[in-house]
Amino acid sequence: MLRKVLAEAMFYQGVALLKEDRARRAALYLALARRLEPQNADFLFAAARAADRAKRGDKAVQYCERALELRPDHPGAHELLTRMFLHGEDYFHVLARIHGHLRPMTYVEIGVETGASLALAAPGTVALGIDPAPAIQFELPDGARIFAETSDDFFAKRDVRAELGGLPVGLALIDGMHHFDFALRDFMNLERVCAPGSTILIHDCFPHDRRTASRERQTAFWSGDVWRLVVLLKKYRPELWISTIAAPPTGLAVVRNLNPSSRFIADNFERLCREFLALDYGYLDKGRKVKLNLIPNDWNKIRELLDRPIAVP
Ligand SMILES: C[S@@+](CC[C@H](N)C(=O)[O-])C[C@H]1O[C@@H](n2cnc3c(N)ncnc32)[C@H](O)[C@@H]1O
Repeated sequence: MLRKVLAEAMFYQGVALLKEDRARRAALYLALARRLEPQNADFLFAAARAADRAKRGDKAVQYCERALELRPDHPGAHELLTRMFLHGEDYFHVLARIHGHLRPMTYVEIGVETGASLALAAPGTVALGIDPAPAIQFELPDGARIFAETSDDFFAKRDVRAELGGLPVGLALIDGMHHFDFALRDFMNLERVCAPGSTILIHDCFPHDRRTASRERQTAFWSGDVWRLVVLLKKYRPELWISTIAAPPTGLAVVRNLNPSSRFIADNFERLCREFLALDYGYLDKGRKVKLNLIPNDWNKIRELLDRPIAVP
């Protein structure tokens, strides 16, 4: 009992100091509170706020993660994790801008669901949506076609160029099965049917926390382990230009300077899966922004990225 009273006294003192913007001093009191009651999610969250204010981002992430392990629905920890990394217009707005700017002749979207993202394709774009369980609720652009099958089936049995009237894929979005190995296959299959100057977008590659990034879906909001794809491409395909836009809720990666004739992923698929499935989520505890090439969600910067002339002949 005395322990609990003491812990709370330390906690309230820490919170009061935080309000006065004395983050480092607050951290000392909050550390004492945690030592007395290590399983208290609110204490961990307060420590995360202090670390964030003291510009110790990695520490703040770790405290938030631990708070969420103890209380998965801790609203403050979710909010802080998002605010620390992501900002500005959400992914739908950014995607709409990208469509409006690139005006691609062709667009392929893997993972359509309600059609909210497919509906953003500009009029005149030949748009294909692939999803084994589409549940369309949005008005789709004229001529958009839905293939009610998995992306693996789609690529195995269809001639994508023929479906696009003989053109390469100009813009693609990977937002289907949120498992790294599926996203890797989607990337490999799409790149083959792109032109070097095409753009591949990958949704959900800046994960929020360990639970929402797990391979088994545990939560309504789920990014899965797609983030591993960014780490893989950075390591093994250095010729690609990869940036993850800090768009809520889980980032949107832009991949350019493609090499449609690359066989690297196909030739090494099993080995790559083994290597990257063994990479624990804890890899992102430190330096997550750099590891996932996070860039500000700033339209001028995004436009520069999209307009950069490609380097592959
Ligand atoms: C997050 S939703 C897509 C949301 C949509 N892009 C949007 O932003 O409005 C993911 C979708 O991927 C689909 N999906 C699951 N496995 C798939 C697969 N193997 N190939 C293609 N789509 C898949 C699901 O049926 C689900 O509708």
